[in-house]
Amino acid sequence: SMIHKGEYLHFMEKEIFEQPQAVQDTLLYACDKENNEFSYEAFSMSEKDFRDITRIRIIACGSAYHAGYVLKSVCESLARVPVQVELASEFRYNHPILEDGEIVIGISQSGETADTLAAIKEAKKLGAKTLSIVNVNGSAIAGESDFVFYTQAGPEIAVATTKAYSCQLVAGYIFSLLLAKTKGKIGDEEAHILKEELFSLPGKIQQCLSLDSETLTMAKKLKDDKNIFFLGRGLDWAVSMEGALKLKEISYIHCESYSSGELKHGTISLIEKDSPVIALLSQEELAAKSISNIHEVKSRGAKCFAFTMEDISVEEDDFAQILSVPKTQPLFAGSLLVVPLQFLSYQVSLLKGLDPDKPRNLAKSVTVE
Ligand code: G6P
Repeated sequence: SMIHKGEYLHFMEKEIFEQPQAVQDTLLYACDKENNEFSYEAFSMSEKDFRDITRIRIIACGSAYHAGYVLKSVCESLARVPVQVELASEFRYNHPILEDGEIVIGISQSGETADTLAAIKEAKKLGAKTLSIVNVNGSAIAGESDFVFYTQAGPEIAVATTKAYSCQLVAGYIFSLLLAKTKGKIGDEEAHILKEELFSLPGKIQQCLSLDSETLTMAKKLKDDKNIFFLGRGLDWAVSMEGALKLKEISYIHCESYSSGELKHGTISLIEKDSPVIALLSQEELAAKSISNIHEVKSRGAKCFAFTMEDISVEEDDFAQILSVPKTQPLFAGSLLVVPLQFLSYQVSLLKGLDPDKPRNLAKSVTVE
């Protein structure tokens, strides 16, 4: 059936606004209908399948690969199970070694990406159990995997993913929570608190949808730049990769994300007067360290912008603009930060007179290697 943009100018805008619902639907999909608890069955797995997991290998491309880094951060923190993230296109050619108990998780919106499909097949050949987190029912990657979790984003039309990525994050949180519980790393009470926090995300994402006027102010300051640097540490780094990709793919501005601490090992040589730097500062315990990196670039003339979470104090003087998202459990901050990052990309693209739904040279789903 035909999907219409309705009141929206572009599919990307429509899909950004659909995120509260998409995330809510994905949370509900993951719940057992009888007791309303997150269920192993949503992943078509059993408790034993979860208990047997000793390591995790994530394979994906593009934004799904970035979602993998968020899953890594959350899962290692909550479940204390090691996670390695690999580009699907690299996995097969790197003489992959999979250990007993290592589960391979393919993340894909379309479920048809050739490299991800081939990597899942290779993992199976090597004897690993495979789980796919996909958005399209009955897709090839879902069909090839032992286990499947279906994100509930609904059809996504814009090339630059928004709601599907957001649902991938949520699937990753739920997977990590279930694994942490199964492995006895968190108790019932903590699991309950985290679950409540997850169910508050749709409302908080909804609140983030009113950040569009603040991001427009930022977009106007950035639209004529040639290079934009994104910085973050830990989870913020994972989210900054997606922020940089989103902006570059639809604005054609060169954007790169760097781990804050790595900056001084090379990239800082690119910083000159008025170089734009976008810092993600949602992790309170890391914020002070990242701020000292901000001071390093600022003293070389950079013009800095901050994306923070409420209650994290940053010096106004350090930044040309500060934008903050509602407070949530820091592990889930990416779900909120990504919304203004999406707006920023969308608005820069429009200000440059481009069509954000159809960036040049890019396809929604890449079915060739
Ligand atoms: C293409 C799209 C990206 C997407 C990637 C992976 O390159 O342009 O936006 O992240 O494929 O797609 P998948 O369907 O596997 O998530």
